[in-house]
Amino acid sequence: MPTLETTVNGLRLPNPFVIASGPPGTNGNVIGKAFDEGWGAVVCKTISLHADKVVNVQPRYARLRARGSDEVIGWENIELISDRPFATWLQEFRDIKARYPDRVLVASIMEEYSRAAWVEIVERCQTAGVDALELNFSCPHGLPERRMGSAMGENPELLAEVAEWANAAASVPVWAKLTPNVTHVEEAGRAALAAGCEGLSAINTLRCILGVDLETLRPEPNVEGYTTPGGYSSRAVMPIALRMTMELSRLIRAESPQATLQGIGGVETGSDAAQFLLLGADTVQVCTGVMKFGYRLVHELTASLLAFMQRHGFERLDDFRGHSLQYVTTHADLVRRQAAARQTRRHEQEQSGMIRDDAHWSGDAFVDQSDALARG
Ligand SMILES: Cc1cc2nc3c(=O)[nH]c(=O)nc-3n(C[C@H](O)[C@H](O)[C@H](O)COP(=O)(O)O)c2cc1C
Repeated sequence: MPTLETTVNGLRLPNPFVIASGPPGTNGNVIGKAFDEGWGAVVCKTISLHADKVVNVQPRYARLRARGSDEVIGWENIELISDRPFATWLQEFRDIKARYPDRVLVASIMEEYSRAAWVEIVERCQTAGVDALELNFSCPHGLPERRMGSAMGENPELLAEVAEWANAAASVPVWAKLTPNVTHVEEAGRAALAAGCEGLSAINTLRCILGVDLETLRPEPNVEGYTTPGGYSSRAVMPIALRMTMELSRLIRAESPQATLQGIGGVETGSDAAQFLLLGADTVQVCTGVMKFGYRLVHELTASLLAFMQRHGFERLDDFRGHSLQYVTTHADLVRRQAAARQTRRHEQEQSGMIRDDAHWSGDAFVDQSDALARG
């Protein structure tokens, strides 16, 4: 029987499924529920020293459904970090660690551009017993107006400076949570690792406007008639998250092989998780999936990841972690490989209905031609 047990930065997890920072880790009650159901670790909702500055609005979510179906494929939120007092959180950290001493609790933290504030939040969280810290450099809405969140994550120098402050004060492992709202995520990853972070978490949400209501002509989510760009998550973001997982895995393997990677974005099934692991993630975090399906989702996640491993004869996660990275190459290399393969497959190619060059696209057969060129 394969095992899902894994060790990440010295922390032992029963499985790689981690609650991502957000509503599913928003207070001691729900964190306890996550551990009871079997989640491998929990990252709490992002906290700060002064929750009184955090004022949320309603509604704060908007959902995109697949055409002709009720299935939610995209989810926008304009939720801020936790609005619960820091002292309450510290007490809950102590209580949770007393109740679940063997389970891994990660504090997601965010502060303004102040060395004293970052040192204080790091020291007080670790004194309360958390096992690791995740620095939120990535929340794309609301907080950047205070130069927090992705305002730091989009600027590698600023990120490095703040991550150095946090690492100098930290005695537990530190992960930097990165924003996808940049052109080259590796630049932020490299800055975080150089600043001493033991791991990277990616991705946070993508800045979006979910849609415009064609009756009211107002964008959603509509708060008193107005909106503000928010963070996009759920199934629709998984391909972007996989690409960034690949890029960050390669960075880690080339430059900081001891560092770990927490893959995040759209995970709802064990098959989704297997893809993040195949591209080099050490753990897989889930937020919106829990909001859609509840904490018991972890049962399906573990069962179907185990079934995948059994099908391939993998005993441990390390048997396949990063396996698929070798198959990602440049376009020029694809051209070379296809030219070589075509020598032996000429007849097959001619029968397939695939266009051979752009002169063959035709207006009448356009959809069929697109279809013949596609996978899935
Ligand atoms: C409602 C909501 C609130 C979130 N709050 C936080 C947060 O406080 N801190 C954080 O680092 N990420 C936060 N996130 C981002 C998630 O942790 C995660 O990075 C992102 O949603 C992509 O994963 P998913 O598709 O599994 O949700 C939030 C996401 C959602 C949907």
